[in-house]
Amino acid sequence: MSTNGRMMLVCQGRGVDSPPVWFMRQAGRYMEEYRRLRERHSMLELCRTPELAAEVTLQPIERFDLDAAIIFADILLPLEAMGVPFHFAKGEGPVLERPIREPADVERLDTVGAEERLSFVYDAIRLVRERLDAGIALIGFAGAPFTVASYMIEGGHSRHFAKTKLFMYEQTQAWHLLMTALSDVTLRYLERQVKAGAQVVQLFDSWVGALGRHDYREYVMPHSARILQGLQNTAVPTIHFGTGTGSILDLMKQAGGTVTGVDWRVDLTDVWKLLGDTTVLQGNLDPVVLLGSRDTVKRAVTRVLEQGRGRPHIFNLGHGILPETQPENVEAAIEQVRTWSKTHERI
Ligand code: CP3
Repeated sequence: MSTNGRMMLVCQGRGVDSPPVWFMRQAGRYMEEYRRLRERHSMLELCRTPELAAEVTLQPIERFDLDAAIIFADILLPLEAMGVPFHFAKGEGPVLERPIREPADVERLDTVGAEERLSFVYDAIRLVRERLDAGIALIGFAGAPFTVASYMIEGGHSRHFAKTKLFMYEQTQAWHLLMTALSDVTLRYLERQVKAGAQVVQLFDSWVGALGRHDYREYVMPHSARILQGLQNTAVPTIHFGTGTGSILDLMKQAGGTVTGVDWRVDLTDVWKLLGDTTVLQGNLDPVVLLGSRDTVKRAVTRVLEQGRGRPHIFNLGHGILPETQPENVEAAIEQVRTWSKTHERI
């Protein structure tokens, strides 16, 4: 078990020689090794076959000097387990076959024992843990109720979240029923991931930045809080992540999470001022930087490191790696973290 790796130490508020580094979407299309597997298998086949999911999870670990692996899966997998089928359409992202349109659709959700139908994820976690060095942490994850509900209601990706917000405002009782169902399933799903060997779990509320403070507090916060507070019984650290969340970060921290994950729109120094210096922050390099020259990468990575200096910081992007990224730039970013850390004392 990795109890002494950098990732676990920082999550416990302890000092390290270099900030731990990992990247959201570190396994995926920007890697040739992944694209080769994708020629023979669909994204969902990769997720549902533990041996393949384990292999994909380990691809970036074999290639780069990372401090954590994240299990290869998707935040939408629990939908199918609840009787809501979907597929990934080329160039379009996820498409739900029967989006939620009315309260009766919420009542039809098959939530009882949904986590049992996701056993392939736990099997993949067990396989990865067996093959991972003790110093590298394994991260499990799930989508947060708001972000998952937005896919269920919109039927796919959305720009304005109009259907989701109107459901929230006008079918409020059914909204809370849906959010309660999702938080129940998500808590049980994450507990099972921890039992299988996940040592940290991240709750992805990727699109929650679309909400104002009032709406976050009223319609979302209690549900995310139930998951994050429920996970305290497992004793694993949790990462609470969203994008565009600058105006609700204090509420997100209050909802829970050992670590707060932020995107590139905020300065880390401002977030520490707001949330307190002992808050563990994860982020926040702009993923677009990794499309630039080696020099652009070095400069931007250094700026993030300087902001994190002397504070509990997990180096990551502000959102997932873009598919156009050159793997050499991922390597250069990690190398810059290590080089900089050798010449700068942490505290
Ligand atoms: O980070 C990792 O390496 C673990 C794997 C992971 C995936 N999805 C694999 C994936 C994680 C953590 C996710 C989370 C996820 N999935 C989120 C939250 C994080 C975020 O990026 O905001 C969301 C919103 C989803 C839903 C989803 N899955 C979308 C919108 C898409 C299509 C978009 C796209 O890039 O094509 C996916 C598909 C998906 N999930 C891919 C991967 C590697 C691309 C699959 C492929 O075509 O090979």
